[in-house]
Amino acid sequence: MNYHTLGNTSVVGLQWGDEGKGKIVDLLTEYFDVAVRYAGGANAGHTVRHGGEKFALHLVPSGILRPNVLSVIGPGVALDLEILSGELDALTARGVKVSENLVISNRAHLVMPWHKKQDRLSEGSLGADQKIGTTAKGIGPCYADKMLRSTAVRVADLFHADTFREKVRHIVDQRNKVFVALYGDAEPLNAEAIADEALALAKKLAPHVTDTTLILHDAIAAKKRILFEGAQGSLLDITHGTFPFVTSSTCTAAGVAAGAGVPPSAITSYLGVIKAYSTRVGGGPFPTELRDSTGDLIRERGHEYGTTTGRPRRCGWFDGFATKYSIDLCGITQLIVMHLDTLSTFPELKICTGYRYKGETLRIFPPDAQVLGNVEPVLETLPGWDREIEGAADYDALPQQAKAYLDRLEAYFKVPITLVSVGAERLATLHRTPRI
Ligand code: GDP
Ligand code: IMO
Ligand code: MG
Repeated sequence: MNYHTLGNTSVVGLQWGDEGKGKIVDLLTEYFDVAVRYAGGANAGHTVRHGGEKFALHLVPSGILRPNVLSVIGPGVALDLEILSGELDALTARGVKVSENLVISNRAHLVMPWHKKQDRLSEGSLGADQKIGTTAKGIGPCYADKMLRSTAVRVADLFHADTFREKVRHIVDQRNKVFVALYGDAEPLNAEAIADEALALAKKLAPHVTDTTLILHDAIAAKKRILFEGAQGSLLDITHGTFPFVTSSTCTAAGVAAGAGVPPSAITSYLGVIKAYSTRVGGGPFPTELRDSTGDLIRERGHEYGTTTGRPRRCGWFDGFATKYSIDLCGITQLIVMHLDTLSTFPELKICTGYRYKGETLRIFPPDAQVLGNVEPVLETLPGWDREIEGAADYDALPQQAKAYLDRLEAYFKVPITLVSVGAERLATLHRTPRI
């Protein structure tokens, strides 16, 4: 990958999240001036490892570890003040610079305690098959209020204390009634305590709050280089994903401009991040899932436990058919393959190249979770390689079978694979010359 020709770049996950976006954003920000989170909230967990240190970021862009990069929390983010404040304290305690290099949009919507409570109560009321398996971070209820408008609160509202408090009283009064009526809840929320806490956190975060839209427009005019850090993955997209087992934001590349406040024409490269196999956390259909010792082995080798919730991730073979759908939705210009090292020592590997449903071969990823739950994945078998490749020195040092695995993916997608990750560390990343 030629970092210098990328232009303003979007990094987007093409599966069900946790592809390794954090690692790639951290790596690439060396060549960028600005890093922007534009969607999702603290449901995201982006891991960065270098120099033996591990950082798990939820709301703060992964660019924060580069002191000269401006990190932007954009208008489309669902912002949890408490989590953000804790994250900033933890970063500062570890010596990471968090000052004028972090800005927060005054247009971002706030995730409030009633959103988290609603998330927990509504998930708790669903049967095992219906549960979305959310991260319980209040993301869905926050975005639902955003669409409802009259019951939403935004960062800008925090700076009008009296009207903010009045609004919180009104909303909490309503929500307490709803929680009793719908869920028999016996622990009403306290509006004054919620308003006090939010206003105190607002004071602390105020130096970072600004109109980030203006900052990004100025950055574009000044030809600064901007990296957009996707959260979640395209298959979790509210419109195009495996509905209803999705998150509540636009996770495809189409969400970048809307969530960041930049024109779509300002973005020139769309980098798709994929794991060399598939994982998903929470409920919902997963055609290539391995509920056997092979799936367990992938989980253990890949340390596939949620960055945000610690839940074991469901693991399975690489789903090329689902990923092709994401690539087409996002207009991906280059692919980055993560976790190739995790697949070492498996005697053989499988990739899914299509779905069959009731005897028919499907042309596109199906919209209906019930259909998706019953498709038969068409699997192609490829030979594995018998030695570990974690931290391999360069692409040429990879076993021939590992290269053949990547060649097959590239030929299937017809999109160049330009970076290959063989370990969690920043430097365990290999440049690959595309063959197409
Ligand atoms: P994100 O949400 O897309 O940023 O991904 P997560 O951070 O939630 O999950 C990716 C996990 O894989 C993290 O623990 C990373 O440290 C780790 N990781 C990233 N790339 C690689 C890789 O190539 N090999 C291995 N073994 N681990 C990786
Ligand atoms: P990153 O950015 C993986 C999943 C949840 C659940 C569904 C809805 O780290 O890749 P939500 O709390 O958003 O309402 O949950 O979406 N989910 C993720 N899975 N990685 C993520 O983010 C996710 N964010 C949400 O597990 O299935
Ligand atoms: Mg993650």
